[in-house]
Amino acid sequence: MTEYDTIKVERRDRVGLITLHRPEALNALNLRLMHEVVGAAEEFDRDDAVGAVVLTGSERAFAAGADIKEMQDLEFVDAYRADLFAEWDRFARLRKPVVAAVSGYALGGGCELAMMCDILLAADTAKFGQPEIKLGVIPGMGGSQRLTRAVGKAKAMELCLTGRMMDAEEAERAGLVSRIVPAADLLEEALKVAATIAAMSPIAVLAAKEAVGRAFESPLAEGLRYERRLFHAAFATADQKEGMAAFAEKRPPHFQGR
Ligand code: CAA
Repeated sequence: MTEYDTIKVERRDRVGLITLHRPEALNALNLRLMHEVVGAAEEFDRDDAVGAVVLTGSERAFAAGADIKEMQDLEFVDAYRADLFAEWDRFARLRKPVVAAVSGYALGGGCELAMMCDILLAADTAKFGQPEIKLGVIPGMGGSQRLTRAVGKAKAMELCLTGRMMDAEEAERAGLVSRIVPAADLLEEALKVAATIAAMSPIAVLAAKEAVGRAFESPLAEGLRYERRLFHAAFATADQKEGMAAFAEKRPPHFQGR
């Protein structure tokens, strides 16, 4: 298994677990961490033995943003030429579902990384925000776009323009997080959600993620047509035959990913 500096990587049955691990910097996302997270996540994405991934941080911080100290002397041309943070697009393009388990701070790039995941579970201690404005910059990993789609214009504007943080309750009310769980149960609950997904037909899971993802990228009529075609395509799989036969025969299904 690959050696990592800034993350911990484990397998729990069919679930891949990535834990951000820079305790000295509240898991600030430096370039090394970005390469490691993207690399580890892509490895899980390619691994047939993995059905879903959980991404988490520490109790105190999911991640407190991009690494400010690493960025502070950066010049425009360096950022532009390197297309800084474009590598995170590969994380957002993973095909298997990723559950974010967020405890403590999810700020700036931390909030943006959580929003790249497919399901966001928050501990009751979670705090979300886009405080880049206080540093004289703006979100750079998708915050102005994904937060706006998740919580609407007024709240996204307020968070991006004032840097105010919102707690887990407000984030849930606003539709950013799917559920709040007590901090002590967060990881277990996220692993349970991921294990549930990993027990489904892997083909149907890929299609479901792709279909919901489409809703963020296309007009409704196109998205509906796309969904219907993927739905039709499901009837070409053995898993559809097995899933429906198992229902009719009142037994659990045995999906094979075919
Ligand atoms: N980058 C680098 N180091 C960071 C960091 C970050 N984003 N966030 C925290 N740290 C470091 C601190 O510098 C500190 O290190 P030292 O002990 O060496 O001084 C350590 O982590 C602990 O942090 P604090 O002492 O500040 O902890 P606190 O409990 O007093 O405050 C906090 C917690 C409110 C989260 C505060 O750390 C903070 O405001 N962090 C920065 C949040 C931020 O602005 N994020 C946006 C970054 S820019 C970005 O993300 C751009 C983008 O869109 C991609």
